[in-house]
Amino acid sequence: PTWDGWSTPLTLYNSYWLRSHTVSKFMLVRDRFKPRRDDIILATHPKSGTTWLKSLAFTVSTRSRFTFDNTPLLTSNPQRVVPFIGVMGGDLDNLEALPSPRLLSTHLPLSLLPPAVSTVGCRVVYLCREPKDAFVSRWHFENKIGTGAPISLDDTFRMFCQGISPFGPFWDHYLEYWKESLARPHEVMFLRYEEIVSDPLMVVRKLATFLGVPFTEEEEESGVAEQIVRFCSFDSLRNLDVNKTGAGVERAGGKILLEAASLFRKGKVGDWVNHMSKDMAEAMDHLVEDKFKGSGLEF
Ligand code: PPS
Repeated sequence: PTWDGWSTPLTLYNSYWLRSHTVSKFMLVRDRFKPRRDDIILATHPKSGTTWLKSLAFTVSTRSRFTFDNTPLLTSNPQRVVPFIGVMGGDLDNLEALPSPRLLSTHLPLSLLPPAVSTVGCRVVYLCREPKDAFVSRWHFENKIGTGAPISLDDTFRMFCQGISPFGPFWDHYLEYWKESLARPHEVMFLRYEEIVSDPLMVVRKLATFLGVPFTEEEEESGVAEQIVRFCSFDSLRNLDVNKTGAGVERAGGKILLEAASLFRKGKVGDWVNHMSKDMAEAMDHLVEDKFKGSGLEF
C-alpha cells in the first residue's frame, strides 16, 4: 500500500512505512550491506535526536584525531559527518570503501538491516524519544520539507497513531531495538533523548566506554567530557556557521535540499504541551501504554 497524504508519499514495506522514493535503496541494504564486527551503528527513529547523537558519538570517538578547532563538525552538518546506511552519501559502495571501525547511522528498523548486524555482533546505539515530543518535532519538520500544502497537526496525528509516518509504526521500531538491547546488552546501548537532556555528562561517559574509548584520568581532570557536552549542545551546534547557513540533508531523492538549520528547532523536553490538546495527549498516552505493555519499556 502507499499513502499520499504526507509531504512525500509513503509505501508500506515489510510492515514499515518508508518514503516511496527510498524503498528501492533500502531493499538493497538488507541484501548488500556488509556489517563488520567493529561497526558502530547509531540507530534512531526520526526526530529522536539523531543530529545530537551523531555529534556526540563522532566527537567522542574521534577526539584523538581532531580538536574542537578542526573537527569536521565545523564544516559539515552532523547528519553528513556520520553517513546514513544506504542513502544520502552513505551509498553501499561508499560504505564498503570506508576504513574500519566505521561509525554509521540509520533510521531503519532492525528487521530491515541484514541479520548479520546481530550475528556478527555490531555495536548499536539506539536513541528514542518520548513519543509526544517526537510527534510534534515530526509535524514541524514535515511542514518544513513539504513542497505542497501544509499538513495539519490533526491529520499528522491521526496518521502517526496508525503507525503511518516515515519509518513508522514508531512503537515497533522502538520495540525491535529494545528487545535487541535485552538480548545483547553489551553490544546494544538503548538511550533516551530525555536522559541526555537531564544528564549529558553521564551519557557522554557511558558512550565513551561503550565505544571502547573511555576517558582517561588525565582527560577527566582537564574536563574533556564537559567540553564535548558543551560543543554538542543545542545552542553551540545551532550557532555554528555551517548549521546556520549550510546545506542539511537531501530529501525526496535529492529534489529537496534541506537547510541544516531545520535540524535545530527547539531541542526541549515537553514541547508537546504547546501544540497538542489534552485529548490528543491522552489518546497518545493510551496508545503508548497499550503498545509497550509488558515490554519493560515505558514513557
Ligand atoms: S532527523 O531528521 O530525524 O534526523 O532529526 P533528529 O536529529 O533525530 O531530531 C531533531 C530533533 O532533535 C533536536 N536537536 C537537538 N536537541 C538537543 N541537542 C542538540 N544538540 C540537538 N540537535 C538537534 C531538534 O531540535 C529536533 O527536536 P525539536 O523538538 O523539533 O526541536
